[in-house]
Amino acid sequence: MTVQKLVIVGEKQLKGETSVSGGKNSSLAIIPAALLADGPCTIENVPDIQDIHVFETILRSLGAEVSYQPAERLMVIDPRTVSSCTVSYDLARQLRASYYFMGALLGRLGEANVPLPGGCDIGARPIDQHRKAFTALGTQVSDTGGALALKGNPVGTRINFDLVTVGGTINAMLAAVRAKGNTVLSNAAREPHVVDVANFLNSIGARVRGAGTDTIRIEGRGHLRGGIYTVIPDQIETGTLMIAAAATRGDVVIRDTIPTHMEALTAKLLEMGVKVTTDDDVIRVQFGDIHRNLQISTQEYPGFPTDLQQPISALLTRAKGTSVVTENIFSNRFKHLQEMERMGALVRISGNVATIEGVTQLRGAQVSASDLRCGAALVIAGLMARGTTEVDHVEYIDRGYEQLEEKLNALGADITRTTVEE
Ligand code: EPZ
Repeated sequence: MTVQKLVIVGEKQLKGETSVSGGKNSSLAIIPAALLADGPCTIENVPDIQDIHVFETILRSLGAEVSYQPAERLMVIDPRTVSSCTVSYDLARQLRASYYFMGALLGRLGEANVPLPGGCDIGARPIDQHRKAFTALGTQVSDTGGALALKGNPVGTRINFDLVTVGGTINAMLAAVRAKGNTVLSNAAREPHVVDVANFLNSIGARVRGAGTDTIRIEGRGHLRGGIYTVIPDQIETGTLMIAAAATRGDVVIRDTIPTHMEALTAKLLEMGVKVTTDDDVIRVQFGDIHRNLQISTQEYPGFPTDLQQPISALLTRAKGTSVVTENIFSNRFKHLQEMERMGALVRISGNVATIEGVTQLRGAQVSASDLRCGAALVIAGLMARGTTEVDHVEYIDRGYEQLEEKLNALGADITRTTVEE
């Protein structure tokens, strides 16, 4: 079996200009949402990443007409030929976002059979809140051997989530936009991609108000038309590039961003002593003279995003003093720290709290990516380290970052992708 690795020669400062691709998590919600339309939907700025290719296969398996042009970042979906409400296990298990086909198929057909999702191993990832929403909408929900079977045309209602869930909020929106009657989602997630999905739905004739707040109001619509929509830039890729610039003591201009989505990270980088300036859709990150230690506590948006906890941990290995990272969203999201210890990082983990001692220098080593953002964190650590670092299981990185090594190499990094027999 062949495996791919990234071989990183460290201590290269990142300098120059780069740009951000379309949002992975936005695209993974908007593509299933297109099934709710009664005409073709053209989705622009779709990142060319592995997860999108899996979604293309799922759409075709349902009978939809799909034209996907990765180089043009374009996907045209015509759901009028959809004939199936069943997603196969082999496809669904590859990524967590496959659960969005539950809400989308339920909203279009009043029926869905979708396997329980796979995805990154960052802790228990139940979908009880998704079930709660579907049940509240009057749907019969049953377990059939590792899949969820949903049956019944949704009827508008009030849904109060027991906890803030991005996936649950979006899935409920997808199931409710064509329901009979109106739906109110309380304690809803406010992430930028929740707003992006609502904006897409409204662009094809839905009536979704309040996205971005904790209360979303949805007026059920019998039919939705086709349309054209452009996905927002990827918030987490933006943050990963910002952190990489600071971690290599570089000076990087990042284009095609939405700076307001980055405020929690920007505030922390400024607190560290990193210079961050913004202008319209551009963010510039310049190394400051010192990197002070930080206290990071991950929260739902607009708090510090859990998806950037792993990448910033690499930067914190170089901070002056001890930093404390508290992961409040997922129960097992510190594996990257165990790998960084092999590079000389001094970390201590106690439950959901990690302390990271600032060290003078990381050393290159062979390390293993266990999930998407762990991989990104190890790449950043490799950029910082003295010597050569090899990051394996690059497939995790390819799931969520479009051309990461190309973008970093264009900024002065020295990263080579190798394929080896395992
Ligand atoms: C989405 O996951 C993202 N994935 C994650 O990004 C991101 O980390 C997460 O939101 C939080 O921002 C996609 O959008 C595909 P949640 P999701 O439902 O929807 C618990 C990445 O790296 N929970 O907001 O699964 C859950 O276990 C990925 O791009 C329940 O208990 O996140 C977690 O502890 C990783 N019951 C917390 O809520 C439920 O029914 C937040 O989960 C649902 C969630």
